[in-house]
Amino acid sequence: MYFEQFYLGCLAHASYMAGSEGVAAVVDPQRDVDVYLEAARANGLRIEHVIETHLHADFVSGHRELAARTGARIYVGAQAGAQFPHVAVSQGDEIRFGQCLLRFLETPGHTLESICVLLTDVDRSPQPFALLTGDTLFIGDVGRPDLSPSHTPRQLAGLLYDSLHQKLLKLPDGVRVYPAHGAGSLCGRQMSSERSSTIGEQRVANYALRAATRDEFVHLIADTLPERPAYFARDAEINRTGAASLGDLPPLRELRPDALPRLQQSGAIVLDTRPDIQFGAGHVPGSVNIPLSGQFAAWAGALLGLETDLILVTENVAGAPESRMRLARVGIERVAGYLADGIRAWHTANQPIQPLPHITVQDLDRLRSEDAALQIADVRRPAEWEEGHIAGALLLPLNQIAAAIGQLDPVRPIAVHCKSGYRSAIAASLLLRAGFRQVVNVTGGFDAWKTARLPVAQVVLA
Ligand SMILES: [Fe+2]
Repeated sequence: MYFEQFYLGCLAHASYMAGSEGVAAVVDPQRDVDVYLEAARANGLRIEHVIETHLHADFVSGHRELAARTGARIYVGAQAGAQFPHVAVSQGDEIRFGQCLLRFLETPGHTLESICVLLTDVDRSPQPFALLTGDTLFIGDVGRPDLSPSHTPRQLAGLLYDSLHQKLLKLPDGVRVYPAHGAGSLCGRQMSSERSSTIGEQRVANYALRAATRDEFVHLIADTLPERPAYFARDAEINRTGAASLGDLPPLRELRPDALPRLQQSGAIVLDTRPDIQFGAGHVPGSVNIPLSGQFAAWAGALLGLETDLILVTENVAGAPESRMRLARVGIERVAGYLADGIRAWHTANQPIQPLPHITVQDLDRLRSEDAALQIADVRRPAEWEEGHIAGALLLPLNQIAAAIGQLDPVRPIAVHCKSGYRSAIAASLLLRAGFRQVVNVTGGFDAWKTARLPVAQVVLA
C-alpha cells in the first residue's frame, strides 16, 4: 500500500494520500491540488476519496477542487454542516479499497466536527498502523479549543479531553500519529518540529496528555489561549462551502509604476515579498514587507486580512505567481496585480524610494547607551520574552502590533528586533508605513544578541 505525507512549510501544514490497487484517498488537501494529482499519476492511483478532518480555520482547503477534478467523494464529520455534496461520517464508519482500510473516529474538541482517521494495511496486519489526527493531537501539543461560535473554549477543551482519553489513548502505543500541522502553526502552541510520532511517545512526552485530571487539562488548554487571527473565522466559513478552484481566479495583472500611486490612494497596499535586505535598500513608500522566506501566508492573513486589495512587488518573475498562490492558500484573493520588472521598474521611472536601514546588535548596544531617545521594540511572543530580553525593550508581539503601536512615540528613533529577523522585518515596515520616521531593523535579532554575549535581562517573578 502507498502512503505519503505532503508537508507545506509556509503554513506548517501536513496532508496525506493513501492508496492501494489503483485507488487513493487524500486527507486535508492544501488549496493547490496539483501535487496530489501528480503523485496519484506517478503511483498509478485514481483519487476517489477526499477527507477533511475538520473545517480548517488557518488555510483554505482544496477539497472541492480536488473532488471536481477527480470525481471523488468528500467525507466530513457529521457535525460540520458542510454546504457541498459530501458524505457525513460518524464514529466507526469505514472506507475500504484494495488493502487499505480507513476507519473514522469522531473526536470533537478542537472543533465540534473534528474526526480522526485510523489507517490499516490489511495485507500487513489487521491492526491499524497509523492515525491521521487532524488538529485533535499534534506532536507535542493538542489543537486549540477556541474556534467554535457555539461552544466556549472550556466546553471544547472538556470534549477534547474526552476524545483524547476515551478514543486516541485507547489505541496501542505503536500506532503512528500523523497530524495536520507542525511547528510554527497558529493552530497550537508548542508543536514539535517532528512530522510524526507514535501514540506511545505522545502519551509520555506531550504535556497536554500528562494532565492528571479533566479539570487540569481544561485549565491548561483553555485558560491561556494564543492570539486568534481574524481571518480564521472567514477561512472556516470558506471551507464550509468549499473554495472556488484556483484556476477560476482572474489572471495576475502586470502593473506599471504609474498605476501604483492611484491604486494606493484607493486603499490598495503594496505587499513586498522580497528578502528584508532588499526591502531595506529601497522600496515603494507605504509598502508592507512580508518576505516569502518565512510563514508568509499566515502573517499576510493575520496582518492584512482577506479584504484588502494588494499589489505585489517580488524579487523576480517567478515570485509573483508564487506569492499569489501562497496568499490564495489562506483565502487572500484580492491581488490587483504585480509591479512588472519589480523595484527596478520603480527606479527606472524615477519614483520616490524609501530605505529601511539595518543595524547590527553591536550597533544597537552602542546606540542604547548613547541615545536616550531610542525606543527598542521586541516583536516576539510573550513566552520568548520571558526567557530573556534586552533591558529597556518594549514587548510588542507582531500579531498585536496594530493595537500596541500607540505605546511608541512616532517621532523618536525606534529599533525593531525579533528572534532572528523575519518578524522584525514585517514590523519595521508596518511602523514606517504608520508614519514612524526613524525605524531601523536589527539584523539577526535576539539570537545574534545572545551569540554576541550581550547582556540578557530576565523576567523577575514577584
Ligand atoms: Fe484546525
